Amino acid sequence: MKKRLVVSTGAGMSAESGISTFRDAGGLWENYPVMEVASADGFRRNPALIHRFYNERRAELVSVEPNAGHRGLVELEKYFDVHIITQNVDDLHERAGSSSVLHLHGELMKVRAMDNESLLYTLDKDHLETTPDTLIDGHHVRPHIVFFQEAVPNFEPAVDLVQSADIMVIIGTSLAVYPAAALLNYARRGIPVYYIDPRPASVPASVHVIAQGAGEGVATLTRELLNNI
Ligand code: APR
Repeated sequence: MKKRLVVSTGAGMSAESGISTFRDAGGLWENYPVMEVASADGFRRNPALIHRFYNERRAELVSVEPNAGHRGLVELEKYFDVHIITQNVDDLHERAGSSSVLHLHGELMKVRAMDNESLLYTLDKDHLETTPDTLIDGHHVRPHIVFFQEAVPNFEPAVDLVQSADIMVIIGTSLAVYPAAALLNYARRGIPVYYIDPRPASVPASVHVIAQGAGEGVATLTRELLNNI
């Protein structure tokens, strides 16, 4: 029976693929007023601007590839029952081949009907752009993104996953945004917790910090885990 490895990733996971993080120097929130382009109020105020913001991020996403960190997590599936929880809205974990990915903040390549949020549509390379006037199956659509000021519906399933973990790993997050940042507190007492981040946020002393980027850090983690398997 493989041990369950639960990995919680943030924007730093995709940095080495060329996607900028939010709060590093030159990050997304330095160039965009976050409450204008990523909040429920912003969407009500100026939906066209928000559609444009996510159109731009989709165009960037289809031009980049998963990095060694994403691939290293797929490799770990040979030895562990790996489940990814991600704050990222990109599809790089899926494109790398991870078999279990739970998105907390939505998915950039999906939009949903404004009049029925259970109706999801996956955009393809040839139809990446939406506007407030776009109709899919007769429905106006919005980005399938959890805006600030909106609930995080996948948080409960994420907590269940963390509570079932034999090993927990956190990669590339500033642990600045809740409820995602609280996931660490749900890990069962005594299980090993690792945190891979070149500029780690402060975490309890019991957490094993690997102060490296995702690619190098996942390789370091893998060596450490396989030495103790
Ligand atoms: N490898 C790993 N981590 C990295 C790398 C790298 N190459 N480069 C930077 N990092 C780390 C930074 O040190 C930082 O801790 O990635 C983290 C990025 O932090 P944020 O930009 O705050 O991103 P994140 O924690 O995912 O933000 C959480 O905030 O704006 C919202 O919804 C958005 O999901 C996002 C949430």
